[in-house]
Amino acid sequence: MSQADPKRELLGITKDFRSYIEAEIASGVENLIIPKSSKAGLLAPVKKEVFSCRRCPLYKTKRNYVFSDGDPEARLMFIGEAPGEDEDMQGVPFVGRAGQLLTKMVEAMGLRRQDVYICNVIKCRPPNNRAPLPEEVAACKGYLLRQIDIISPKVICCLGKHSAQALLETEIFITKIRGKEFEFNGTTLIPTYHPAYLLRNPSAKKEVWLDLKKIIKILSLR
Ligand code: URA
Repeated sequence: MSQADPKRELLGITKDFRSYIEAEIASGVENLIIPKSSKAGLLAPVKKEVFSCRRCPLYKTKRNYVFSDGDPEARLMFIGEAPGEDEDMQGVPFVGRAGQLLTKMVEAMGLRRQDVYICNVIKCRPPNNRAPLPEEVAACKGYLLRQIDIISPKVICCLGKHSAQALLETEIFITKIRGKEFEFNGTTLIPTYHPAYLLRNPSAKKEVWLDLKKIIKILSLR
């Protein structure tokens, strides 16, 4: 068995660290926070790539790339569809009305927003909040898969049909799959309704709460 080369290892860490700083600067951060976790370091090169992405035309119309929010060490990852107007303005996922509801959902689970990891399938806002096109999902999905691989959460909660369908590679209705448990790359994936849908259909909140309770049980929360 070959011995780990400490010089190479150090070089790798230095490269990750450099990518992290470059990605933070590229995203307009003024006060740099040094990551205490290696997952943040591993995410840095992915974030850096996203911040110069031109894989689909959405980069031309977006204001900001929207990479993620929350804790890279989280055991629970929420995946939405694509940034809306507020997210596009701030460069942070789920900060508009749907995002406020998501924060409440997280808190109802006994967690804080900063305890979970939040991102989207698509990192740039589709114009006029239209649904992402299949070619946009295809272009962006690789970034999401790398995020999932690095975070390796215990549970992924897909918010809405676009995120569930993109990851499960199915066209099945969200009504048929919500609340079900799927195995995804060694993680439990549970789709539920999107908070934006709940804003329009508050009566569906009780189904979402059933789904969240499943997650609470899997993670032994509360
Ligand atoms: N809807 C999403 O799917 N993602 C966001 O970040 C905001 C709203």
